[in-house]
Amino acid sequence: MARGKAKEGDGNWKKFIWNSEKKEFVGRTGGSWFKILLFYLIFYGCLAGIFIGTIQVMLLTVSEFEPKYQDRVAPPGLTLIPQVLKSEISFSMSDASTYANYKKTLNEFLKNYEDDKQSDDMDFDNCTSIPSSYRPRGEYDDAQGRKKSCKFLRSWLENCSGLSDPDYGYKDGKPCIIIKLNRVMRFKPKPPQNTTALPDYLVERYHQYILPVHCTAKKVEDKHKIGNVDYYGMNGFTGFPLQYYPYYGKRIQPNYRQPLMAVQFTNLTLNEGVRVECKAYGENIGYSDKDRFQGRFEVKFDIKS
Ligand SMILES: *[C@@H]1O[C@H](CO)[C@@H](O)[C@H](O)[C@H]1NC(C)=O
Ligand SMILES: *[C@@H]1O[C@H](CO)[C@@H](O)[C@H](O)[C@H]1NC(C)=O
Ligand SMILES: *[C@@H]1O[C@H](CO)[C@@H](O)[C@H](O)[C@H]1NC(C)=O
Ligand SMILES: *[C@@H]1O[C@H](CO)[C@@H](O)[C@H](O)[C@H]1NC(C)=O
Repeated sequence: MARGKAKEGDGNWKKFIWNSEKKEFVGRTGGSWFKILLFYLIFYGCLAGIFIGTIQVMLLTVSEFEPKYQDRVAPPGLTLIPQVLKSEISFSMSDASTYANYKKTLNEFLKNYEDDKQSDDMDFDNCTSIPSSYRPRGEYDDAQGRKKSCKFLRSWLENCSGLSDPDYGYKDGKPCIIIKLNRVMRFKPKPPQNTTALPDYLVERYHQYILPVHCTAKKVEDKHKIGNVDYYGMNGFTGFPLQYYPYYGKRIQPNYRQPLMAVQFTNLTLNEGVRVECKAYGENIGYSDKDRFQGRFEVKFDIKS
């Protein structure tokens, strides 16, 4: 027999793999192996069941069209471009490399607002540059296909569009920032009904279809350091026109363009930090001490001559 001729060590090893006397395979009988296999089959089956069940329950509570958790920032956040670390815009007028990144961020952001990116009539409406009321576009599902979006043209931002001045004023110590209201599906901003709480500047420019935005010194005693502030928006209005709302979500309104505003500080005090606060005003615009971007934001300018 072949088994008898094998060397002793070799035989022990083979005996371990298949012990014909005890009918054991790698130390276990067929029945034992079967029980182990059955145990793991049921064990992993249950695990998979729990996993799939949890996912199913999750999916049931999530609408296909509406994100469950809209944004990190509680709606509606007011944010600025360039987005900056520590809310500080700091550069030297005489050194282009110190503001190159701000320019780059603004250029990148405004690319989508160029005419040729909004020329497809299937996706874009000409909502004109006259402020008008909300523009509902039907149900919040894709039964009627994709929703169109209102155009918002980069050129409307004039001196802050980067078209006439590719340096966005930074070279001359007159920095531009762009302001937007974060996208929140279904949200319809309501302009203030009572203008008594508005800054005078906004009272003079009040329009029933514009959600107004204003920038001023964070501290009253710094007011003289801010200097002149120029606002650019659709047709020169100081805020967000209502015809851009509501937003239908990324899936059914993939080419949505948020309305923008640009603000240029043309006589900021140089060589010291100046804190500015920009704020949106409206019936359903709230502010929070915990969320630094809810309805307003703060930015510190530090410009070296
Ligand atoms: C939108 O329409 C108006 C008049 O209907 C026209 O003057 C304007 O140029 C159009 N704007 C765009 C961006 O097509
Ligand atoms: C825009 O920039 C031009 C050229 O620098 C200037 O003449 C004009 O007054 C600026 N517009 C406003 C509204 O400040
Ligand atoms: C507007 O608000 C002021 C105080 O904030 C209040 O005194 C005034 O009555 C309000 N006016 C209207 C028309 O609600
Ligand atoms: C800029 O501000 C300074 C004071 O900080 C003031 O003397 C000067 O007249 C202002 N320039 C313009 C053009 O408003």
